[in-house]
Amino acid sequence: MTPADQVLSLCARIAALTDIPGTITRTFLSPATRAVHSLLTAEMQSLGMTVRTDSAGNLRGIYPAQDDLSSRGNNLSSRSEAEGSAFAVPTLLLGSHIDTVPDSGPYDGVLGVAIPIVLIRMLAGKKLPCNIEIIAFSEEEGVRFKFPFIGSRALVGTLTRADLTRTDYLGISIAQALEDFGLNPLSPSAPLVTSRTFAYLEVHIEQGPVLESLALPLGVVTSIIGQSRLSLTFHGEANHAGTTPMSFRKDALAAAARFIAEVQSYPQDDPHLLATVGSITAFPNAANVIPGAVTVSLDVRHPSDAARLEAVEALKTLAQSHGLPVTITDRGGQSSVPMDPALSALLTTAAAPYAPHCMASGAGHDAMIVAPYIPTAMLFLRTPRGLSHHPQESVSAEDIQTALATCLRFLNTLHPTP
Ligand code: GLV
Ligand code: MN
Ligand code: MN
Repeated sequence: MTPADQVLSLCARIAALTDIPGTITRTFLSPATRAVHSLLTAEMQSLGMTVRTDSAGNLRGIYPAQDDLSSRGNNLSSRSEAEGSAFAVPTLLLGSHIDTVPDSGPYDGVLGVAIPIVLIRMLAGKKLPCNIEIIAFSEEEGVRFKFPFIGSRALVGTLTRADLTRTDYLGISIAQALEDFGLNPLSPSAPLVTSRTFAYLEVHIEQGPVLESLALPLGVVTSIIGQSRLSLTFHGEANHAGTTPMSFRKDALAAAARFIAEVQSYPQDDPHLLATVGSITAFPNAANVIPGAVTVSLDVRHPSDAARLEAVEALKTLAQSHGLPVTITDRGGQSSVPMDPALSALLTTAAAPYAPHCMASGAGHDAMIVAPYIPTAMLFLRTPRGLSHHPQESVSAEDIQTALATCLRFLNTLHPTP
């Protein structure tokens, strides 16, 4: 099998491990996630890597540096999670997330874990002047807790004690979910990464149409645009559908529907503004009951943080203009984040044979959480039809081959910061 076919095969085997048979759906710390951990652990151990799960449920494998460096105290499995050890070896972090949106495609996130594993195989035992650590982030999409980036926030120490009390639809908190998975207790603000981790590279499908429209296989990300995530609950009054005259009603779904239409029309003057209601829940959700309460999600993105925040305020005001009380909950926004210029330049040089396109990312990535703390670069692969967050998401073996070749050159030209 070619290395690109090995990547595709690994993605296919991961895709088969799902919470909902017949779809690709894997949420934070679900049974399917544990199965993916077993599969990836076996893969990485077969390459001589030391594998563990950190206290945020991120699966992490270390491919050690060349011997003279490794002997300076590289036994991560026996060190505490803070990993601030002065003896740690310079470490390059490679990875992405293994959770998915509901009914996902096989490559969003997963490709960024499969490519590094095959890269290590391609090194055929050759060691570098740094450790390579592969990380499969436990949570990026924000599906289970309506709160994204749990794995990467924990990695850099920005997950707060209050975040750990966020609950899923069953009322299980993040802290409880971590405990139920059998993990060591998580100290919210303590980073789970050694200070000797000098760079992070995330490989990801573009998830949009730009590279395909330019007929280019690869992109180098310059920045990741900011996002706001909120939920809004419209409070009406449940009542009988057959006895309550229309003028007497406090219909929460009717108010939410008017708001959703406003969200659709709001960005028309600004082509950079993206506003989405992607989820709606009505209570009690029965045909003969006037909806008493409705919760909708709101996702707002813009390359300019000021423009995004202004739009969020305007949309909140619109939500409150429908005559019903509205409760608004913050679900974890992020500012726009630049990638590291020097590391991105190195990546661009490594990809030079493929004329990579430098571009901003409209999708959020773990890289946007890591970048303020660790120099970070991102490599994009062309996404056929720009189709992602969709079961027919795809990527070609040829483009994977270009990404592997680029990453190999990147590894061979990277100089660890001493
Ligand atoms: C991640 O997929 C995002 O929502 O951008
Ligand atoms: Mn995604
Ligand atoms: Mn992703």
